Amino acid sequence: MSRVVRICPSILNADHAHLNSEIDKVSSADLLHLDIMDNIFVPNQTFSFHQSKEIIAYSQMPVDTHLMIHNPDELAVDYAAAGSANVTFHFEASKSPVDTINAIKDLGARAGIAIRPKTPLIEVSHLLSYVDTLLVMTVEPGFGGQSFMMDQLHKIKQAHDAITALAGEKPWLQVDGGITLETIILAADAGADTFVAGSTIYRANSPQEMIESLRHAASH
Ligand code: DX5
Ligand code: ZN
Repeated sequence: MSRVVRICPSILNADHAHLNSEIDKVSSADLLHLDIMDNIFVPNQTFSFHQSKEIIAYSQMPVDTHLMIHNPDELAVDYAAAGSANVTFHFEASKSPVDTINAIKDLGARAGIAIRPKTPLIEVSHLLSYVDTLLVMTVEPGFGGQSFMMDQLHKIKQAHDAITALAGEKPWLQVDGGITLETIILAADAGADTFVAGSTIYRANSPQEMIESLRHAASH
């Protein structure tokens, strides 16, 4: 049976000196994944808001912003206003997740919450009927190129079951970290439908062919 699959290349480990051509290399993807880090919530720092606005303006793909920052509540709204198609912030860092979700949606973007590997699903169960995206991290956030954490498969399955039980519109179930041609099959079998991949796509000889291969692997 073929399933709905969305592939989101992460430009975290792309060549930041030539971002436009790096974005062009993955133009067949469903969304462009934009990782924002502040060196506080995670021990790494990435794109400024100014750079982010340029990326959002340049990308023909809808942009999926992943905020790995402390106090995300205000900046999440700014990223929605800047034209992100989806803004995901970390539950662990937010003071008012419901207000932030609503403010993102009021600006016409999808709203997502992310949980770190150590955060149990139960902590966000009450938010599942409000969000458009649930991101289950499959590595500790902060860096590309890490290995997929197999112990998160159970959480993906739990999240899939919880989402299936919801009435009405269902949020996307996204995974991020260590996605390869092998691990994407495991994550898809556990119920994920939206896949971030950084190094697997950018290290491939042909990023566009890798996107198709990942899509094929996840949908069968
Ligand atoms: C990690 C970031 C990821 C990262 C994934 O904290 O959120 O989006 O770019 O990189 P890979 O696919 O190389 O694990
Ligand atoms: Zn990410």
